Amino acid sequence: MDKVIDFINVNRDRYLEELKTLLAIPSISALPEHAADVKRCAEWCAGEMGRIGLQNVKLVDTPGNPVVYGDWLGAAGAPTILFYGHYDVQPVDPLNLWESPPFEATVRDGEIYARGAADDKGQIFMHMKAVEAHMKQNGRLPVNIKFMIEGEEEVGSEHLDDFVRSHKAELEADVVVISDSGMFARGVPSICYGLRGLVYFQLDLRGSGTDLHSGSFGGAVANPAFVLAQMIAQLKDRSGRIKIPGFYDDVVALTDAERQAWATLPFNERKYKKDFGIPKLFGETGYTTLERTWARPTFEVNGLLSGFTGEGAKTVLPAVAMAKISMRLVPNQEPNKIAALFQQHIEDLAPKTVELKVTRMHGGKPWMTSFDNPYVQAAGRAIEKGFGRAPVFTREGGSIPVVSTFQEELGLPSVLFGVGLPDENAHAPNEKLDVGNFHNGIIASAILYEEIGNLK
Ligand code: BES
Ligand code: ZN
Repeated sequence: MDKVIDFINVNRDRYLEELKTLLAIPSISALPEHAADVKRCAEWCAGEMGRIGLQNVKLVDTPGNPVVYGDWLGAAGAPTILFYGHYDVQPVDPLNLWESPPFEATVRDGEIYARGAADDKGQIFMHMKAVEAHMKQNGRLPVNIKFMIEGEEEVGSEHLDDFVRSHKAELEADVVVISDSGMFARGVPSICYGLRGLVYFQLDLRGSGTDLHSGSFGGAVANPAFVLAQMIAQLKDRSGRIKIPGFYDDVVALTDAERQAWATLPFNERKYKKDFGIPKLFGETGYTTLERTWARPTFEVNGLLSGFTGEGAKTVLPAVAMAKISMRLVPNQEPNKIAALFQQHIEDLAPKTVELKVTRMHGGKPWMTSFDNPYVQAAGRAIEKGFGRAPVFTREGGSIPVVSTFQEELGLPSVLFGVGLPDENAHAPNEKLDVGNFHNGIIASAILYEEIGNLK
């Protein structure tokens, strides 16, 4: 193992340079104009998998973006890891807030800045480089591994469930390893044992056939922007509780043990507010900030659009108003059930003065696991060796839809070992990844393969 770690140390700068090449590809899955870039990124990943010594490398077409697959199955008798990650990234707008171009990775103050640096290209590359180090030094891996890297995670992994169901035999493994989450804080590595789920909707309201003069018509015709605001305002009460009937029915309550464990984590509310420019925190009464983001469901407005928003003033009654709405779900809320409850309720709330169109978009199930299995313990040892400190156990507020599918369809536990930091601007301008965490993450990944390899 020392040889492998030496190799990673010696190649530290080269690894970072190569990561820049991957980060240069604008593989934005949400934007149709980037379809060719998404494909190019899949091909680049396949090329890299070949270079590092994986076998059976291929792009597997789906009705959406291809899944990149590659494996190395020469460790007879050892367990098999299914490594999952995503090569697609989020859009970059607002572009003017980036301090360096999002697809020209730039290192400043020990962080590499680029879209996808943390989420998730930097983290998948970490594992590729760990494989490379083993292969270059030993000509083999200490474990069997199947890489499966998808290109639609940031748009809800719409085709991935079918992919998993139709490739069950190829994906057979003992454990899933994922690096698409964060560390609790700088210097505090973590293993994540729970993710929230998601349901997402677009609401379109129409109040008239065309925009109307607000002098001639104002007062006689309902304003869809106003109606939409009123409808949204009725969905949460002042204590932060969501007012959709039945919404909380299946929510699993936090255990005392969890609450106590989380209370010992080094979380500083004052710093949190300051770091993110938040004047005063708001959330469901009776829960701490960590509890609110990790273990309680949400109702959010992700976007609002209506009427005149240019410079100056225009006297107009907008014809339409639009909102993007999403709800984060926790175990055991079921996305289809929550979606139906929301749709019914929002239709009940809509007055007859507007036409309402409700469109459901992507989503995913919540996931939670116990962390007393040998794979999680192996990861704990690997992380401790790579980062010099044992990991804390966290849940996360974000979603990775396929994790529950791995559990349900393949019966596989997942180990979520992420190295992003909370302030690394995932989905926002100036996304970055700490170069030291990237490097330690490669070492921890390399050790993780060895630790898991020793388990059978
Ligand atoms: N890497 C994130 C998931 C994540 C976020 C894990 C925060 C832990 C903490 C992932 O790429 C992501 O953003 N997922 C989407 C999924 C959605 C589009 C279904 C999300 O959570 O919004
Ligand atoms: Zn991600």
